[in-house]
Amino acid sequence: MAVISVANPKGGSGKTTLTLVLAAQFASQSASVAVIDADPNAFIAKWHARRVQEGRGSPFEVLASPKESEMVSIVDQMAKKFDFVLIDLEGTASRMTSRAFARSHLVLIPYNLSPIDASLAADAVRLVTEESEALNRSIEYRLVRSRENAAIKTKSARRIGAAIADAELPTLEAGLVERAAYRDMFDFAKTLDELDASTTSGLVQARANARAVAASVFTALTEGQKV
Ligand SMILES: Nc1ncnc2c1ncn2[C@@H]1O[C@H](COP(=O)(O)OP(=O)(O)OP(=O)(O)O)[C@@H](O)[C@H]1O
Ligand SMILES: [Mg+2]
Repeated sequence: MAVISVANPKGGSGKTTLTLVLAAQFASQSASVAVIDADPNAFIAKWHARRVQEGRGSPFEVLASPKESEMVSIVDQMAKKFDFVLIDLEGTASRMTSRAFARSHLVLIPYNLSPIDASLAADAVRLVTEESEALNRSIEYRLVRSRENAAIKTKSARRIGAAIADAELPTLEAGLVERAAYRDMFDFAKTLDELDASTTSGLVQARANARAVAASVFTALTEGQKV
């Protein structure tokens, strides 16, 4: 019912991590969830396949490697079946990105507090704006601070944060902090709830952070009145 695209042309900005964290979090709150994995690395599809192979099942469905020409019909079909459809996109200017945006209730743009990331995040914002103009309707989007240092804010991070605030770009209230637990989700093909404190440090903090980010996404969707 709510379609959320995660996009930024900057490689490694945290799109796949944010998508997996949100999918698992929404599913843990009893929502039905599907992920469309359009990332060429297909890490979420691999996460899912490993669980199925090991007989552990998955808390959400995954559709891997959608064809550009099928994106719209896939999203429409899935939006009828699931409470949340998350699309892990490359985020470069392409028909795939534009079609996913066209069907999205919310576009999330994770970025790291570095000058290159901020500039590429601005490109992603432009893509959303262009698509909005083409469709003649507004598409809600939020920048999402990604791999935030929980303890220290560097001067450059503060400067970029201030520039984004000055530009009045809509930003998700909670950002995804840098945590080993988010990497371990992929290493062990587990959710945060399934990871073990004996192998992963900072789990309690990561779980609280994931809940806060998911709650902020829910608020953003409600602000767009799509939930
Ligand atoms: N919040 C985080 N805490 C710890 N590690 C993170 C976090 N976010 C991302 N990473 C790590 O950073 C790397 C890049 O993250 P990710 O794959 O999510 O980015 P991406 O934007 O999907 O990249 P790509 O553009 O290649 O698809 C990965 O090794 C991931 O484990
Ligand atoms: Mg990715």
